[in-house]
Amino acid sequence: MPTLEEKQLLLIPGPTPVPQAVLRACARPMINHRGPEYARLQNENVAGMKEMFQTKNEILVLTCSGTGGMEAAIVNTLSPGDKVLALVIGAFGKRFVKIARAYGADVEEMEFTWGEAVDPRKVRDRLSQDKSKEIKAVLIQHNETSTGVYNDLKVIGPIIREHGALSIVDAVSGLIALDLQTDNWNIDVVAAASQKAFMLPPGLAFVSMNERAWQAYEKATTPRFYFDLKSAKEFAEKGQNPFTPALPQVFGLQEGLRLLRQEGLQNVFLRHQRLGDAVRAGAKALGLELFAKPANASNCVTAVKSPEGLGADDIRKFLLEKYGLVLAGGQAHLKGKIFRIGHLGYVSETDILGCMAALGAGLQELGVSVDPGAGAAAAMASFQAAER
Ligand SMILES: Cc1ncc(COP(=O)(O)O)c(C=O)c1O
Repeated sequence: MPTLEEKQLLLIPGPTPVPQAVLRACARPMINHRGPEYARLQNENVAGMKEMFQTKNEILVLTCSGTGGMEAAIVNTLSPGDKVLALVIGAFGKRFVKIARAYGADVEEMEFTWGEAVDPRKVRDRLSQDKSKEIKAVLIQHNETSTGVYNDLKVIGPIIREHGALSIVDAVSGLIALDLQTDNWNIDVVAAASQKAFMLPPGLAFVSMNERAWQAYEKATTPRFYFDLKSAKEFAEKGQNPFTPALPQVFGLQEGLRLLRQEGLQNVFLRHQRLGDAVRAGAKALGLELFAKPANASNCVTAVKSPEGLGADDIRKFLLEKYGLVLAGGQAHLKGKIFRIGHLGYVSETDILGCMAALGAGLQELGVSVDPGAGAAAAMASFQAAER
């Protein structure tokens, strides 16, 4: 096994690599979280996050991982017994179902074939049958990390709004890697997290709630304490947090936002598009089959089927030990069948070229009949042809 000191190429869909400038910011001395510098810092961060969420809503910054953000979205808008429609295209869709059920919601799962996106027509049909407006909320992923598929929220957001249910979106891996126009697309609640495209260490979740969501809050009776978003909002108005915030991550967020604003959000999307295109081209050139249907293949992560006769986890183990390349495995029933290449956040084009070269070499060394340089060559051609 490589030692911890050895340089690894971390290409999993979170946590993602963190730039030096952000790491340095995280190492700043602690400050008083009830003092004036903290208030300035928090206000600056929230203003930056509004740009990232493309919203005018207040963004609540919580000390927890992404799942905490999803849980906060549920407990602040729903009551036990509320009917909820969960649109499931993979393991994180299943997680949303579990969270809502844990708090007593009456969840109807609408599951689509894994590897495909939510079909907006089926959502429209189901919601139009609900004449008595029993469905209070619709749960959906922006990007389903377990399969490498994104959902078309530009179309689905307005369909949910037309019905009147709240749209609650898990954008933990998708936000800023893929466009999500919270306000324009009528999304009521959005949850995201620090360790994905934001190029930060894990530890923060971000939740956007619009006016409709705050109205739902007033009626929602699900018990809540740590994740009470009204309390978070009231403290935010004073430039504070109800509890001790994870200061290193908050410092890192300030620096990360500075880098992202300098780059510009549209360029951030384009960067992820370039990386996604190159990974898909490279994997295909190595003769590998992609798990996601091309129409909604994600620019955050690519799920790749392992070649006949070779376990996906054996490929990952070999690549880690020989080349220090870290890829993610499959989740749920996809374990051992796929491996996933993360290409979101602080990932460079050179990282992808290195990944493709190592993958090609590794497959050949594992006995696959393949031109080992074909993946890197195809990724390189894709970068050369890409829009900048
Ligand atoms: C789409 C999605 N939702 C939720 C989560 C859960 O986030 P966390 O592990 O930070 O709790 C993840 C993490 O990979 C994710 O990709």
